[in-house]
Amino acid sequence: MDKKITVLDIQKIKDDGRKITMLTAYDYPFARILDTSGVDIMLVGDSAGSVIAGYENTLPVTMEEMIYHTKAVARGRKKALLVADMPFMSYQVSIPDARFNAGRFLKEGGAEAVKIEGGSQMKDTIKALVDIDVPVMGHIGLTPQSIHRMGGYRIQGRKEGQVEALLADALAVQEAGAFAVVLEGVPAALAEKITREIRIPTIGIGAGPHCSGQVLVIHDLLGLSGRKLKFARQYADLEKVISEAVENYLGDVRSGSFPSAEESF
Ligand code: KIV
Repeated sequence: MDKKITVLDIQKIKDDGRKITMLTAYDYPFARILDTSGVDIMLVGDSAGSVIAGYENTLPVTMEEMIYHTKAVARGRKKALLVADMPFMSYQVSIPDARFNAGRFLKEGGAEAVKIEGGSQMKDTIKALVDIDVPVMGHIGLTPQSIHRMGGYRIQGRKEGQVEALLADALAVQEAGAFAVVLEGVPAALAEKITREIRIPTIGIGAGPHCSGQVLVIHDLLGLSGRKLKFARQYADLEKVISEAVENYLGDVRSGSFPSAEESF
């Protein structure tokens, strides 16, 4: 096995001028394949709520669901840094709650870090987790758990005041001790400015090419999510591949050509 990637390596990749790669994973087979392919960070995203469970948004996702996904991913991953996404209401209510739930991801789930959404308003929470040795990845800009405040999935940082607020969020997250920060749904020029002004790596999604790294939801990349997003490049059409395979199987069963004599005992 190649060397295990730690939070220290993530900073080093940035400092060396290389790009950080991150993808979501929710189960054992995908974790195994992504790890073998060489991704730096695997995120057990609460996007599981949308692409796995079929919820309308990420708000219904529970701690138990996230722990289940994280454990499965941990079993398939050997090398990549494993980050677990803290679901809505698992860290917003109180700092003791946040510490307890983040601890569960490390202790039960096998994660090596957690991700929480929110900037300046989450500074104390991030610090409280870092203080008990739970590495934290921040997430600012378009934060899907804030869908109702934002009035939908809207690009952030375009309106007056939002540029300064997002820069302040990035600095707050860094000051609180986060080891990296996701910038989601922000204009490329603003993501570039934030990336220049902070020391920790920025990981972009819908944030242009100037971030220290990029993340995508694996189901978008593979054409399995049933959605086409402007910022998500689709590298395969697995929905088509799966449909064709299933149709071939159905045809073979119906025609009696499966199972054959060789596939029988
Ligand atoms: O839940 C998720 O998958 C995420 C990434 C898209 C950053 O938060």
